Amino acid sequence: MNEYIKKPYYVDLSVTPFCNLKCPFCSAGAAGRMNDSKKAPFTLSKLEDIFNQLDENDVMRVSLEGGEPFTRSDIIDVLNLADKHNFWYMINTNATLITEELAKKISKTNVDKLCISIDGPEKIHDLSRGSVGSFNKMKEAVGYLNKYNVSMDGIITLTNINIDYLFETLELIKNMGISNVAIMLLASVGKAFCNKHSVEVNYNDWKKVYLKLTDLKKEDKLPVNVNIVPTGEATHPWMLYLPLHEEHREDDLKLLLSPSAISTINNNRFACTAGTDNFAIDGYGNVYGCSLMYTEKDLIAGNVYENSITDIWNNSSIFKKLREIEIDDVKGDCAECEFLSVCRGGCRVCSYAVSKDLYSSDVRCPKCERSL
Ligand SMILES: C[S@@+](CC[C@H](N)C(=O)[O-])C[C@H]1O[C@@H](n2cnc3c(N)ncnc32)[C@H](O)[C@@H]1O
Ligand code: SF4
Ligand code: SF4
Ligand code: SF4
Repeated sequence: MNEYIKKPYYVDLSVTPFCNLKCPFCSAGAAGRMNDSKKAPFTLSKLEDIFNQLDENDVMRVSLEGGEPFTRSDIIDVLNLADKHNFWYMINTNATLITEELAKKISKTNVDKLCISIDGPEKIHDLSRGSVGSFNKMKEAVGYLNKYNVSMDGIITLTNINIDYLFETLELIKNMGISNVAIMLLASVGKAFCNKHSVEVNYNDWKKVYLKLTDLKKEDKLPVNVNIVPTGEATHPWMLYLPLHEEHREDDLKLLLSPSAISTINNNRFACTAGTDNFAIDGYGNVYGCSLMYTEKDLIAGNVYENSITDIWNNSSIFKKLREIEIDDVKGDCAECEFLSVCRGGCRVCSYAVSKDLYSSDVRCPKCERSL
């Protein structure tokens, strides 16, 4: 292994583990979780300490997330603290708790943008978020944020609940005044793993939708700018590669792939940047390779109440393991797959959630016949 350890480039920081909604796919395991620990959420002085350590490690980009960040009554103080640091930051939010007064205060901070979860038209969004009324509250908040010129992107988390409404949702988001949308492909972790039979998208349904998205993009007929965010940072992740390969349309691959999904890691590696380019801190101070690992307690690399971030980044055995994994180590169907050199094996935590083995195949892929 290369002994040189890169600095972390970006960090997901859960400013709280608590949430007011109950999404049946929540990767953070936050759905409906209210105060269950004296340690959480972080005090402002603990957050100041964490922000200082992020600066010391030259972190460039931070996503403040959760749980739901706006369940914190002092969220504006958190943003004012973040404003004093070197990284640029954004907030991931369900937006249901953003009042006009908060929107005005947010507009006076240096937050780069708010990424608002918008899963579908009213009934579908409410079903997806496990809470009747969440669509209307979110829509009202988007109105306030527009009024005060706060920059926003939309995020659609694609599940079996909302896949049939995707194109309607893109129009709806455009009509809300938002022009950039990320379509997050579901990671089978946390609640999404427990509820996989009701939330996981069938490959053929995905293929149909993806080919239509690609056609509309080519014809410049999408109502908003769309990026698809797969789980797995390869240049050819299987969810985007296989449908096009089957139709002999590989050249269309770059049309909808998020630039951030293109890995900077070396070609022998799994397509996973956890512990190499990025890490994540959950609402209890546990540090992981990425935020989709929050419900896999064996993947905890350290805790910010016990060790410094520099120490965890440089010395954690989990991070060492994540950095050393090479594609030749993969087990099961991926090892035999003709596409392994381009796909590079899918998402490590989605594999781990099934097998408790970081080297196993990503069995969500249709080319895997459930052989780990
Ligand atoms: C964990 S949430 C935290 C912020 C906020 N509570 C929200 O929902 O927007 C961040 C984003 O991850 C998405 N998400 C949650 N579970 C997911 C999963 N299993 N796979 C992919 N994305 C997921 C959410 O829909 C949301 O857009
Ligand atoms: S996805 Fe966000 S809004 Fe939904 S339960 Fe999880 S933290 Fe809450
Ligand atoms: S485990 Fe790796 S591949 Fe999966 S989402 Fe996290 S960083 Fe990406
Ligand atoms: S079997 Fe594995 S290597 Fe092949 S396309 Fe699927 S995830 Fe990628």
